[in-house]
Amino acid sequence: MSKGTYSFTTPIYYVNAAPHLGTAYTTIAADTVARYQRMNDYDVSFVTGLDEHGQKVAEVAADHGMTPQEWCDSMVGAFTDTWEMLNITYTSFVRTTSAAQHRTVQKFWQDLYDKGYLYKSSYEGWYCVHEETYYAESDLLRDEDGNFICPDCKRPVQRASGEENWFFKLSEFQQPLLEFYEKNPEFIRPETRRNEIVSFVSRGLQDLSISRSTFDWGIPLPFDEGHVCYVWADALLAYLTGIGYADPNREAEFNANWPMQYHFVGKDITRFHCVIWPAMLMAAGMPITHTVFGHGFLLTKGEKMSKSKGNALSPADMVKTFGVDAYRYYFMSDVQFGHDGSISLERMVQVYNNELANTWGNLVSRVFNMTKKYFDSCVPVVMDDDKPLVEANPLREIADELYATYDDAMSIVDFSGATQAVMKLASRVNSYVEEQAPWNLAKSEETQGQLAAVIYNALEAIRVIALYMAPFAPQTSAEVWRRLSLGDVFAVTDIQGASVWGALPAGHHVETGDPLFPRLDVEAIDFEE
Ligand code: MSP
Repeated sequence: MSKGTYSFTTPIYYVNAAPHLGTAYTTIAADTVARYQRMNDYDVSFVTGLDEHGQKVAEVAADHGMTPQEWCDSMVGAFTDTWEMLNITYTSFVRTTSAAQHRTVQKFWQDLYDKGYLYKSSYEGWYCVHEETYYAESDLLRDEDGNFICPDCKRPVQRASGEENWFFKLSEFQQPLLEFYEKNPEFIRPETRRNEIVSFVSRGLQDLSISRSTFDWGIPLPFDEGHVCYVWADALLAYLTGIGYADPNREAEFNANWPMQYHFVGKDITRFHCVIWPAMLMAAGMPITHTVFGHGFLLTKGEKMSKSKGNALSPADMVKTFGVDAYRYYFMSDVQFGHDGSISLERMVQVYNNELANTWGNLVSRVFNMTKKYFDSCVPVVMDDDKPLVEANPLREIADELYATYDDAMSIVDFSGATQAVMKLASRVNSYVEEQAPWNLAKSEETQGQLAAVIYNALEAIRVIALYMAPFAPQTSAEVWRRLSLGDVFAVTDIQGASVWGALPAGHHVETGDPLFPRLDVEAIDFEE
């Protein structure tokens, strides 16, 4: 029996450009949650996908001499290949050009139309194609020549003058939203994002144009086919499509997974997720996702981490240099999720060498090599006399507390807190090995039992560390479990039960192998070529 469902999403990424460090960041975070909650006995739904409509995509396609559909089709592989390279285990990949998404969008907006939440009116105002966002004139900035520019991306904005649009009565939801935020303090996290949104909504809301009639790259509104759905009023609904909304064959799946636990998004798109989205759901009479988590930005400014520009480094460059696990681990452990984080090559090498090479990888090599040397590559049998050392030892104390600390951290997506808890155990095993000095114990017949206990404890701690490292560094954890002859670490569905001390069977073959994380020399890494 599982604990139930655990459902969450990444943003539905625009296909105007290939995935980059920023989009990979959210996706890695979501995968870390997916892997952990599966091991923690939940049925996980992890929705991601591609936002293929809108003016921005249509323009990029035209620039490349393709139809929008051709362009979108040509970009899908760049995303799915990157997610595969990063070992991302999404359960649903929604393309907004899919038939399923058409059904969702048409059903949802028809419903709101029927309920009287939509009206037709002419739109006077400004639109930024890059942000796919409407702006009031008072929100705009001006460039040096006095022309209006977008307050977010600083690009020129377009004047939409008298365009007939369908509007959603968003303004009616100001009070309901404020009450909802009040009653559900966990809806917007972290706290800073929440304050921004509450103050934004307190200033009043304008009705939202949800259709465009001046171009046709979008999903037609069922009650007025001359209009296509505004790209955000389309893409947000992909979250529903991902778990089977509007699909009669997936009704049970939808009901089991909605409302979701999390939407993981960058802080630049929290307004869409914390204002427009819950208002849409309220209008539809649907429950609202538990938490929208707006993470910070990765900043590379001032660093020489690029081929030409500071932020041009790709996920593939990272993987090539550091390996996929170190890439995932660094971004999750070193950048506090929810805050902006400066990333640098120097810091990455430092974290890699300190935590992964010296602490985790080295521990595995040392202890596995000693197992080979002193016990013919078998997990030693601990004699009765030595039991106290097994039952009460400093490693076991830390390991016994690990689940609670780690689970608390993971449930609020405090990835740094979770990795620190695991590293604490790994560091302690290293110092335990130093203190116990198995190489001295090996010298005398009398201390053979103690030697066995020390090696057993160290191996057992490694088994537990690999379990908790698995969501962050999946390949190496799988490899450690394989070398311990334990089978597939991702077959574990009860991580708490699996981490109970003493489960490592004596006699199991322990395989030595290549270092998990060979040390890196910062001087030898060159991203400039
Ligand atoms: N299509 C919309 C999302 C629709 S969701 C219903 C969109 N797509 S996007 O491709 O632009 O995705 C951007 C995501 O990547 C955002 O969550 C954004 O915050 C994130 N990032 C872009 N650059 C980033 C960094 N430098 N650092 C961290 N995340 C950043 O918006």
